[in-house]
Amino acid sequence: MNEEEVWHIEPSGPLRGDVVVRGSKNGVSKHMVAAMLGGGESTIHNAPEVGEVHITAAMLRALGIEVEISNSEIRIARGPEINPRVPAEYTGLNRIPILMLGPLLHLAGEAFVPLVGGDPIGRRPIDFHVDALRQMGAEVEISDKGVYAKAKRLQGTRIVLPYPSVGATETILMSAVLAEGKTVLKNAATEPEVVELALFLQRMGALIELSPDRRIVIEGVERLHGASTWLAGDRIEAFSYLAAGLVTGGEVRVHGCHQDRLVTAITTLARMGAQFEINDEYLCATKPPEGLRSAAVQTDTHPGFMTDWQTPLMVLFTQSQGMSVLHETVFENRLVYVPALQKMGCEIEVFDQCLGGPACRYHDTNAKHSAVVRGVSKLRGADVTLPDIRAGFSAVLAAAVADGASVLRGVHHIERGYHHPFEQFVSLGLNLSKGTAPRV
Ligand code: UD1
Repeated sequence: MNEEEVWHIEPSGPLRGDVVVRGSKNGVSKHMVAAMLGGGESTIHNAPEVGEVHITAAMLRALGIEVEISNSEIRIARGPEINPRVPAEYTGLNRIPILMLGPLLHLAGEAFVPLVGGDPIGRRPIDFHVDALRQMGAEVEISDKGVYAKAKRLQGTRIVLPYPSVGATETILMSAVLAEGKTVLKNAATEPEVVELALFLQRMGALIELSPDRRIVIEGVERLHGASTWLAGDRIEAFSYLAAGLVTGGEVRVHGCHQDRLVTAITTLARMGAQFEINDEYLCATKPPEGLRSAAVQTDTHPGFMTDWQTPLMVLFTQSQGMSVLHETVFENRLVYVPALQKMGCEIEVFDQCLGGPACRYHDTNAKHSAVVRGVSKLRGADVTLPDIRAGFSAVLAAAVADGASVLRGVHHIERGYHHPFEQFVSLGLNLSKGTAPRV
């Protein structure tokens, strides 16, 4: 009981080899929720084997949805009876319950979901989701236990999001497809995973129009049917392994994620001097003989530099020549993982000013959302606790280039978001082993 699972990482040299990324962690769970809306069976192909899928499957089963998972294939069908309450035991595990509100209102006229979790990267509020459902006619009550909503039938309406939130756009899509009448959403997120979800709903019979200027028009239909889809490759995982090759001076060929999902990421790395090989089979980046150069990078909504790419980038900055700057504009507290990297010798300082780009929403707040990073730093092994999925991966990268052994705690975070990360890293040559250590 007083022991926890840890990863031990020893100095390993360059990581080399091939990685095949599967469908995205951020896409698969939303598709699973969308499949609830279909009258028949839906099949999701190329699904990653990640903790997030199992958490979502368990929640769906608790609601009376049949879920069968076999390797990369997930089959989902509605059972004869729907229980509209997500059990309290799923409190705080991930962000998916909030996305179930709309579908449950359609299936049962009421819904209860426990308070959502996800990574501790900011307040991660749910006000956009709740406001949108209220605008569509739902009565919503929020307590310290969770969110209860009821509605006879959701009504199409005009919604303007204060910020193009991925999750809120997905909530609105999954609520509007079966609502009465037309919903016009302005300032919608246009991330590839959002568009992919819209395409899946279209296959299920939804009437969705993706218009210019972040506008989505959805005409509610009476019913949806099951559909089948192949998930596109995870762009976060793809970037993370490209960074793993670069930071260790090795070469990781990433298969399964198309170039068009990584345009800004590729250009950012290329500006730092990374040499790319891109063909129809794989993407690969290598460090030039003189080493990588520093950069100033600002995270943004799509098609900007994705916020989830900044954690591996930060480790790359520590191994690039000179001073780099990172400005996080999507989540106010995404830099929570910096202390773990500092413990490993990364020279990173965080600021509440907007550095490396124009003023963002966090200007004039106390949110430490900019970082200045000095390279090249000599990293040392350390005993660190991983605060979230993406930070977890970056700690592995730092440990891979550190002198001395590292102990990583909280590795379940990495397993929630990456497909078989332990086996993948071992196959690339990382000197990695599993063990246990007394809790700290
Ligand atoms: C999703 C992704 C996450 C990614 C993020 C941005 C999943 C499971 N996670 O998170 O990996 O980093 O998109 O691409 O798909 N906000 C509010 N109120 C709300 C909802 C959001 O203020 O009701 C704010 C958030 O605090 C944040 C910003 O909007 O500052 C963007 O968040 P959002 O796009 O909703 O992120 P998620 O969907 O949670």
